[in-house]
Order: sequence, then C-alpha cells, then structure tokens
Amino acid sequence: MCGIVGIIDQKPVAKNIVSALKCLEYRGYDSAGIATLDKGHLECIRATGKLINLEKKLKKYSLPGTIGIGHTRWATHGEPSEQNAHPHTTEKVAVVHNGIIENFKELREMLNKKGYTTTTQTDTEVIAKLLTLYLDNNLSMKEALETTLKSLQGAFALAIISPMDLDKIYFARKGSPLVIGIGENSNYIASDAIALASYTHQVIYPEEGDWGYITQKNYQIFNKDNKVTKHPIHTLNLSTQTASKGAYRHFMEKEIFEQSTVLNETLSSYLTPEKNELSLPKFIFDKNKLNRLTIIACGTSYYAACIAKYWIEKYAKIPVEVDIASEFRYRQPALGSAENHACLFISQSGETIDTLEALRYVKAKGLPTISIVNVTHSSISRETDSMWPTFAGPEIGVASTKAFSCQLMTLACFTLGLAKTKINQKEFSDLLESLKSISMWLEKMPNLRQECLTAARTLAKATDVLYLGRGTNFPMALEGALKLKEISYIHAEAYAAGEMKHGPIALIDALTPIVALAPNDNLIEKTISNLQEASARGGKIISLGDAESLKKLETISIHTIEIPTVPTFIQPFILTLPMQLLAYETALLKGTDVDQPRNLAKSVTVE
Ligand code: F6R
Repeated sequence: MCGIVGIIDQKPVAKNIVSALKCLEYRGYDSAGIATLDKGHLECIRATGKLINLEKKLKKYSLPGTIGIGHTRWATHGEPSEQNAHPHTTEKVAVVHNGIIENFKELREMLNKKGYTTTTQTDTEVIAKLLTLYLDNNLSMKEALETTLKSLQGAFALAIISPMDLDKIYFARKGSPLVIGIGENSNYIASDAIALASYTHQVIYPEEGDWGYITQKNYQIFNKDNKVTKHPIHTLNLSTQTASKGAYRHFMEKEIFEQSTVLNETLSSYLTPEKNELSLPKFIFDKNKLNRLTIIACGTSYYAACIAKYWIEKYAKIPVEVDIASEFRYRQPALGSAENHACLFISQSGETIDTLEALRYVKAKGLPTISIVNVTHSSISRETDSMWPTFAGPEIGVASTKAFSCQLMTLACFTLGLAKTKINQKEFSDLLESLKSISMWLEKMPNLRQECLTAARTLAKATDVLYLGRGTNFPMALEGALKLKEISYIHAEAYAAGEMKHGPIALIDALTPIVALAPNDNLIEKTISNLQEASARGGKIISLGDAESLKKLETISIHTIEIPTVPTFIQPFILTLPMQLLAYETALLKGTDVDQPRNLAKSVTVE
C-alpha cells in the first residue's frame, strides 16, 4: 500500500511526480504530498484526500525544484490527516515511505529522549528524525542512511531527499516493492514500473535489502551488506495507454470488457504457435509422485484458487488444499516432503505481503513453489521456483476483474497439464477446445448489460444480499459477494447453496435479495431445490443461468440474467462477466467511487 515516486531531471519535476503518482493511486488514496529541492531549499506540499486535492494546492504554490519525491497514502498508523501525510520532513531531510516500521515506538522513545520530538502518529516520521540525528552528528547522507537502515525493523520502500546532498535521491527497499527507472537525462524511482511508463521503459529491480541513490545521470546500488551491487536493466513493454480509461467511464468498466481479449492472450501464451496443443512451463515436480498440492492466496486470488481445487481434484485427481495466506503462515501447517507436496501461490500484484511471507515459509521448508502472478517482475514471481504468468495487463481498478479471470485461465491450463495422463484424450481435447471458445462466448451476450442493470436496481435498494451456488459456483458466489461489498458497500454474504438449511436460511426475508449462480450442470436440480426453499420463505431470487436452467427457475425469480449454454468447465469464466457487471451497475446506482472504493488499496503490502 502507498505509492512512492522520486524524479531527478533538468527541469522542474513536480508535475511529472503528480502524473506518476496518479498511476499509483490504486495503492492508496487518502492523502498525498510532494517535496522538492530547489537551490538548496526543501519545500513540501501535502493534502488530505485524493491527488486532485494536492494538484489544486500545487496550482497555488508552485514547486520549481528539479529533484523531488512524492507519495500517495493508504493510512496504517494515524488518521489520513495532512499532518500524517508524507513526505515527512525535518530541516535536513524529506522522506516518503511504503510499508510499516514495526519498531517505531521504541525508536520514537529513543528519539524523543534525545530531543528529536515526533509530532505525527505515523511510523515513518522516525525515519526522518533518525536521519536528522545522524546528519546532526556529522555523518554524510549516505552514512546516515546506512546507519538508519540498521535500526529499522519491518517493511519499507523509501525515497529520501536532503539539502545536505543536493544532487541525489536516496532509496532503500526491504519487503516493499521498488523499481529504478533509467531515463536519458533523468532518473526515477517508483513503487511500480507502470508509474514510469511515460518517462522510461528501462528499469532495474533492486533486491531485498538493497539501498542506494540516483542522480540525474547515474545511480548506485548497495546490497544488504553495504557492498556495491549491480542488477540487469529490463526493457518493459509498458503502454502509457494502459493507465488511461479510453472511452470508458471507469477503469473497472474498461477492465471488465477487456476480458475476452486478455483471456485469449493468457490462453495463447500456454498454447503452441498453431494453438492446437498446450505448451506449458515445465512442471518442477514429478507429476506421478505428487500427492498433495496447497494453493495459497488472499482475497479474489484465493477464490480463484478455490475454483481450481474443484478442477484439479476432478481432472488431475490430486488432493488440493486452499489456504488464506495470512492464516497459513502463522498456524504451523503440517507439510509433506519435497517429493510429494508442492505449493502454488496466486497473486495479481505479486507483492501481497501475506502471500509473500507464506511463500518464504514454504521455501524454508524446502518444498517446490510455483506462482501465478500478473506482475512478472514482482517479489512473488522472483522468489518462486517456477512462475506462470497471467497476461491481464496492468489492472488499475482496485477491485480485481480481469486479473481474476486470467488467473482462472492460467489455473485451467495448469489443471490440464496435470490431468493430461489422468483423463482420456477425448475429454482432454474437449476441455482444451472449451477454453478456446471462452472469448467467443463472452462476446455473445447482447442483453447482458441491460439485464444486469435491471437486477442492480433491486440490489441497490438492499442493505444485505446473499449469493448462492454449488460446485464451482460456490467460490464464484464468494467472489461475486466480495465484488458487491467492495464497490457498492452493500453487505453481501455467499454460501454453498446446500449449506443454507444448516443455519443461514434464518437470514432470508423479503428485503434480502438472493443472487443465485445457477447454470445448468449436474447439480442444477439440487440448486433449484435450495432456491425453492429460499423462495418459500419469502426470498427474492435473481437467477444467473443459461436458457435451460432459467426456464426451470422462471417461477421463483424476480430477475433473470442469461448466459450462453457452455460446458461446465468454462462456466466460471462466463459467469464472471455478469457477476462483475452486477456489482458495477449497483455501485453506479449507489454513486460510490468504483475505481477507488473507500478503505481499500490494490497492492496490500502490510499484514
Ligand atoms: C478484490 C481484490 C483483493 C485481492 C487481494 C490479493 O477485488 O483485488 O481481494 O485479490 O488483496 O491481492 P493479490 O492478488 O495482488 O495478491
């Protein structure tokens, strides 16, 4: 969470820092700030709320400096006030920080005793004060940073400027993402390369514990042992267009409708050039010996994992456990051996700290690790033994849409790779063909938008909504409820439809709409019985199904949303679209901030 940027150029940098921060606003948006150095003067402007407020302030007070740092915040310590906003400054430094300094209380006590009084509720302020303490003790800026880093526990990506060292931006990273951008007569740092797409495509990814500085024409990186280190320069294929909404009203809307394209791209990357055979990364375990797979993820990625459990157990016959990363890493899970047990980590951002730490836990136990990530240079992708990319492209809307469906596509290919020798050739070919047909089906739902809007009018009036489904439709229901909660702020819960009678049925009343994920499958009759039980108790049912299942549900549904009849294996891909649109249209009716919903941030780099 939080986005940081640093730019050194020949010309004033404030405007470009704001533009870069705009691309990072998905990481947090409760306050923002910029500090620049101009002829030895440190100047800082901060504002609460979104970047637009900072921009308004910058129109009144210009910052002419050619060296600057900026920050967009997702509050961890202290309310989102101007005082707690970054950069945190003293006369000698300005600091922006992404992460959490876990020992900030001890440091604050020590600093206060020495007369370096802190005035904010943040953990970051101690970094500015520590640096100042060491600068006051006549250390150089480089020495002050080296010494400060030794005292910091927790996670951080830092950018620092100082009037004591006029031509540099210092940086450090441990546990939070950071990228260095190499320009022609300018250099950059940022939390995510996407923020630099307008300025450079040449980037370096510092490793854990690295620190150093950039100047206008150069840079220097030190490793955690303070030795000079070098890393390769990557040329990224980042389009500045990815950060634009085009003709769409919201990034989320654009990303929902991009799905048929990016699903095709993701599938194509796992097919031979002729597109008739799977062409997968090599499995890093012996498929014949593997008898246990644990999939670990958070949020939407976790729900993608839950769907994959159904697929892998059914087709590849390998027992699968799915774990929430924040639970897995602290419950001392009993693991198998490196020969029979592998762990798969799913993360759009590749930086989610809970997932990353769970990965490190598993690696320390010596098990093979695989990741499915959208950001291919992310920490999770770099630290796993094998990485299976998704090709969703940058996802800016905070609520995940296209990244989720591309995770499903990669998981479907992973499943087929495991299942190849376990199912007959005909079944295998049918499954593969069905994956190839997804994009075509997604384009064939002409009434979908209108049907979702009509149903959304009912949802927008509700304070609670239930989502029900069986089989893979159960984790799909969980994901549907999460989407609705996140962007419309309506309380939504999902249950396995068959579980209702064991308690949740007590929740049913005429005011609580029920979204039923009910396409025709081998469980449809049982799902219909569960929905009838709900309807008999006054439940108002919104049915998502195909022509055949909707016919059966007609009498008990207040709205129907029709999807095409497709093989069960690919139903989750097709249901994704109405589920996301239902949440989107509801949020529009409620007038919420769809792309940047309250309290959320996209890349969750705190525990
Ligand atoms: C919800 C959403 C989150 C993320 C979760 C994990 O729409 O996006 O629930 O799925 O924070 O993030 P990643 O996939 O980046 O590890």
